[in-house]
Amino acid sequence: MVPQMVRAARERLSTVLLAPLPASVDAAVLRGAARGRAVDLATAPPGLAAVPGDQGLPVLGRTLEYIRYGSDFTRARHAHYGPVSWAGFLGERVVMAAGPDATRAVLTNADKAYSQDGWRYLIDRFFGRGLMLLDFDEHRAHRRVMQQAFTADRLAGYVDQTIPCARDTVPTWPTDRPVRIYPELKRLTLDVATRVFMDERTGPEIERINRAFVDCVRAASALVKWDVPGTRWRAGLRGRAVLETYFAENLPGKRAQPGHDLFSALCQARTPDGEAFSDTDVINHMIFLMMAAHDTSTITSAAAAYYLAANPQWQERAREESLALGDAPLDMAALRTLRTLDLVVKESLRLVAPVPVVMRRTVTDTALLGHHIPRGTLVLVAGAVNHFDPAAGPTPTPSTRTGSPSPATRTGRIAMPGSRSGVACTSASGWRSGPWRSPRSCTRCCGRIGGASSPGTDPAGTTPRCPSRPTGSRCA
Ligand code: HEM
Repeated sequence: MVPQMVRAARERLSTVLLAPLPASVDAAVLRGAARGRAVDLATAPPGLAAVPGDQGLPVLGRTLEYIRYGSDFTRARHAHYGPVSWAGFLGERVVMAAGPDATRAVLTNADKAYSQDGWRYLIDRFFGRGLMLLDFDEHRAHRRVMQQAFTADRLAGYVDQTIPCARDTVPTWPTDRPVRIYPELKRLTLDVATRVFMDERTGPEIERINRAFVDCVRAASALVKWDVPGTRWRAGLRGRAVLETYFAENLPGKRAQPGHDLFSALCQARTPDGEAFSDTDVINHMIFLMMAAHDTSTITSAAAAYYLAANPQWQERAREESLALGDAPLDMAALRTLRTLDLVVKESLRLVAPVPVVMRRTVTDTALLGHHIPRGTLVLVAGAVNHFDPAAGPTPTPSTRTGSPSPATRTGRIAMPGSRSGVACTSASGWRSGPWRSPRSCTRCCGRIGGASSPGTDPAGTTPRCPSRPTGSRCA
């Protein structure tokens, strides 16, 4: 009984920091988190401005608020401080870059002032030497090799292995009772990864690998970073060791008899100049790629399922395009015809960014939009803030566009996240966020927690409506 309750709680909340609070408390905490007693990050040289911001709690800074409120937190900071500000996070002063200009400046990195050490600071222990954690020339060299594993032919092969996995699994999902879609999709994407990445089928050994992998992902967002019994960190360290051993033991076989999986592709990858990966490179890249592909795909597909349920007209459009394919093989060409699904996925990515922030660290003193950033500063690029930038175009929340709940929602087959009894975003990484993790409350009628990003209007655009009701009606 107790283990079941723990599992159910874990499915809903990836950390106790996401436990429900009264809406008024949430609103007050978020307001407080957006602003503090402003202090300059560092004295700026002539001609540059200091970065404004505040520490938050000693040592922890604003870490807890970020974990709880995710993109709502970064948007609130951006609204208060502008595109360049700083806050305390996990013992460091971290500069937040948000808005299109700041994002472009950091990510294009024209002066090579920003390194991937921001990521290494967070996840190196578990995903070290993955492509995203490498810098400059070394990164370019590894990327050239890795590209050989993502050619059009290779991608077509991965799709061919993905489709049977989905066809086997999805029909087994119950249709006669509510289903928590996120855990189901997490299971499915792990199975897909097992087949596409390693050409393995589920069994006790693969269960062990999947567990080790999930432990690594959870450990990467641990607050307690010590090897202490019972911690995420310790489980992650063990997980990393299990993964290294598994890939090391299987590597000679993949080199000798390559298949069509990604593991084989990395073993075989060779640039026209003859550059290739060492055994250790292959192991490090495989472990990173599993993380990069799995968590992101799970969040994206769960968000798309939610928005399809909430927007029945889009669900019907997508369904018609799928049905039009008939019994044709579901290859890359067929997938390209599913234009509605493509739009839905893109909009889901905008609304629930699986990677809402990316991390960098300055390797030299630099200027960002006229602000002085000293060498060695962690920089958090809050890309998801841009997804809601009114200057980039109208950004309606999906539920303001919908007329009525979808049939699936009405019959309860896909539960609504906003209801708290519905789908919870239990991303293994505490650094993820989205509407499910950062609910707004209805401030107008019912006080319920809602899934929409902000109180909406009715279709005529005039009447304030409760965001927890996709119909646009006021709460009973
Ligand atoms: C919806 C799905 C995905 C999203 C939203 C996503 C997002 C991202 C983002 C934002 C970065 C850049 C991080 C940075 O610049 O610091 C990144 C890097 C990366 N992702 Fe993904 N990703 C997704 C799926 C995948 C998949 C399926 C794979 C592999 C099969 C993958 C492999 C990688 C790799 C290798 C990098 C590092 C690239 C480099 O440094 O050159 N990602 N991803």
